[in-house]
Amino acid sequence: MCGIIGYCGPRIAAPILVEGLKRLEYRGYDSAGIAVAQEGRLNVVKRAGKISNLRSHVPPEMPGIIGIGHTRWATHGEVTDGNAHPHTDRGGKVAIVHNGIIENYQSLKDRLESEGVTFVSETDSEVIAHLIASFYQGDLEQAVKETVGLLKGTYGIVAMHADEPDRLVGARNGSPLVLGVGEDEMFLASDVTAIIAHTRQVIYLEDGEVVSVSHRDYRTTDLRNNHIEKQIDHIGWELEEIEKAGFTHFMEKEIHEQPESIRRATKGRIDLEYATGHLGGLNLTNRELLDINRVKILAAGTSYHAGLVAAYVLEALARIPTTAELASELRYRNPIVERNSLYFAISQSGETADTLYAMREVQRKGGRVLGICNVVGSTIARESDGGVYIHSGPEIAVASTKAFTSQLTAFYLFALIMGRMRDMSHEQGLRFAQDLDSVPGHIETILGTTGKIQDLAKRYARFDNFLFLGRGINYPVALEAALKLKEVSYIHAEGYSAAEIKHGPIALINEETPSFFIVPDDGLRGKVINNMKEVKARQGPVIALAVEGDDEVASIADDTLFVPHTSELMYPFLMTVPTQLFAYYCALERECNVDQPRNLAKSVTVE
Ligand code: AGP
Ligand code: GLU
Repeated sequence: MCGIIGYCGPRIAAPILVEGLKRLEYRGYDSAGIAVAQEGRLNVVKRAGKISNLRSHVPPEMPGIIGIGHTRWATHGEVTDGNAHPHTDRGGKVAIVHNGIIENYQSLKDRLESEGVTFVSETDSEVIAHLIASFYQGDLEQAVKETVGLLKGTYGIVAMHADEPDRLVGARNGSPLVLGVGEDEMFLASDVTAIIAHTRQVIYLEDGEVVSVSHRDYRTTDLRNNHIEKQIDHIGWELEEIEKAGFTHFMEKEIHEQPESIRRATKGRIDLEYATGHLGGLNLTNRELLDINRVKILAAGTSYHAGLVAAYVLEALARIPTTAELASELRYRNPIVERNSLYFAISQSGETADTLYAMREVQRKGGRVLGICNVVGSTIARESDGGVYIHSGPEIAVASTKAFTSQLTAFYLFALIMGRMRDMSHEQGLRFAQDLDSVPGHIETILGTTGKIQDLAKRYARFDNFLFLGRGINYPVALEAALKLKEVSYIHAEGYSAAEIKHGPIALINEETPSFFIVPDDGLRGKVINNMKEVKARQGPVIALAVEGDDEVASIADDTLFVPHTSELMYPFLMTVPTQLFAYYCALERECNVDQPRNLAKSVTVE
């Protein structure tokens, strides 16, 4: 959940640490801090609140060329200066930063307190600092290994010791940690955005691995000191991809990036000769794919909604029973794993704890899980049995937009592969591929109507309750639209199957509760129009999202937005974009923090 950074090298550490934390703050934070070693002492500055608050308390000439930094998303202990990281031992010699949850911290804390250790924070993380100090006998790496051997739960840790002025030690289990290899300097971070300004050579740590770093070298081992050979990856992103590129917010930028990100997700993955898809990372032969007779998708939040859409498409094209389930629910229901089932874990960050642990539970039972992720080298991507990177580029805004449509794209390609291995004809496959190829152009058309969508938001942002309604493959689109509005504008919104409104939610309808209907020209259009009329009959304001030229829908709704016509299965792409923009503009109207909504974090790495 939080951000971690460490620096070891010839340059003054403090500004590098603070700037790195600034680039990590989107991951979710409520406090921040740094620790720098200088002449046998550790200088620690940490504050609740924004990075700007921390920055204002860091002495401008804070000396020291080695240090660690952290942005916290609290799990144990209030948001206070004292609970912020880094945490130190009582002697002030050891400093650590930690991402994750130490499940057995209380028993460890009790034991340490019985040995006379005094704790100064309410966090679980503080035990790590005291344990390292208790094991320290001149070798920080060894003390860290003995410490993490006692920990149960998840951690990404970086530790330093005042008596080792050229040493950082990192360890991970369930939370990300990456080593940045610079010119005569080294970095550790929870993700590459913190260090991409300094180096593009990175090494991704796996669970159970420890890295010991000086300014000019590093060593990766396991907890039993066995050397582990690691490859250096090169980061392809440009730093400006991480900037806002002229847009007001990252969310706006990422909504507008979707034509390009969808093109990237299909690039080199459509085989027009055989009218099928090509996904390199599935790690499954065609024979194995042919044996698949059930698909189950596990995810959280927006990724779960992508899974719901994917289930419709896979069943439509390949006639394979497909379900999407909340990862957090699947993990604890003792899932029934069948031999010829294929599982997908969909996760933009690739670090969502609920999804990661559900994947591990399915794998423990012998299930094969493919990952559909955005972040290269993320834990889910590396622990899955194969999968697909969606290549949507860094998604900085907490509210997921371009990743959602790129997740759909990846799954649509998989559905095309599976469909063409079964009853889908060459001609049907070609048409599907062409329709998918036309989606970016249609989205560009929609992005040309942002003025109309903003006007609509200006008129409706004042309402405190919304219903979003869709049917069939657009029912999950309604769920996603409601989530988007909720999370960025704090307006209460519910997504519902349009048919279901008469089974209860219609009791909510009045002049103060607008209903937003997704009503493409598909086979369910007439039914949705009936549902619209049911709402109108009860004085409920109706917004419709319809296909260009649909005058009948426009005559019923109070306000109508239009999207270009396309084939039935492609409407989720087209219907989603106006609802993303509607949520964005409502958030602007309500002066919300669009890119970092209250209480939310970009990557939920705690259960
Ligand atoms: C999406 O807008 C939300 N921020 C959230 O629901 C998110 O989709 C969820 O936490 C899953 O994240 P993931 O895709 O990185 O696993
Ligand atoms: N569990 C630790 C705390 O509450 C770390 C949380 C995080 O990952 O930021 O301080």
